[in-house]
Amino acid sequence: MKMAKIRCILISLFVIMPGKTPLAQNELPGLTQSGQYQQGILGSISQPGPIRYSPDTIYLVGTYPLNTPELIRGEGLEITQTYCRFCHSTTYISMQPQLSASAWHTIVDKMIHTHGAPIPEEEAKQIIAYLQAQYAQKDHK
Ligand code: HEC
Repeated sequence: MKMAKIRCILISLFVIMPGKTPLAQNELPGLTQSGQYQQGILGSISQPGPIRYSPDTIYLVGTYPLNTPELIRGEGLEITQTYCRFCHSTTYISMQPQLSASAWHTIVDKMIHTHGAPIPEEEAKQIIAYLQAQYAQKDHK
C-alpha cells in the first residue's frame, strides 16, 4: 500500500515536471518579452446594444453624394439614359477610357445577355450608335 503510494507520487512527478520547465520559455530564440494571453470566452464578441430610436426625434441625414456627370449631348442620349441606369449610374459609361466602336457594341451586348438588361433590340441599336458616336475613339473601328 505504502509502496504503491510512493510509486504513484514518483510517476506523477515525472509526468508533471517536464511540462513545468520555467527556463524553456526564455530559451526561445528571439523572445524579448513573454506574457500570457487569456483565452477569454471563445466564440463571443461583445457588441454595443442596438440604438434605440425614439419616435419624437428628428434625424437629419445628408444627401447621398452622387457624382454622375451628364452624358454628352447627342442623338440617342435620352434612350441611353433611360436604359443604362436601371442598375448602375451612367458614370459607368463616362468613366471608361476611349473604347473602340466594337468594344461599346460588346458592352451593350454584355449588359443585355450577361447582366439581363431588358433592352429591346431596336433601342439597343440606338444606344450602341449613340455610344459609338460620343464615346468611341474616332479613328478606331
Ligand atoms: C441589368 C442591369 C444592368 C443594366 C440595365 C446595364 N448594366 Fe452595365 N453593368 C451591369 C453590371 C452588373 C456591371 C458590372 C458591375 C461591376 O462589375 O461592378 C455593369 C458594368 C458596366 C460597365 C463597366 C464595364 C464592364 O464591362 O463591366 C459599363 C461600361 C456598362 N455597364 C455600361 C452599360 C450601358 C451602356 C448600359 C445600357 C445599355 C448598361 N450598362 C446597362 C449591369 C447593368
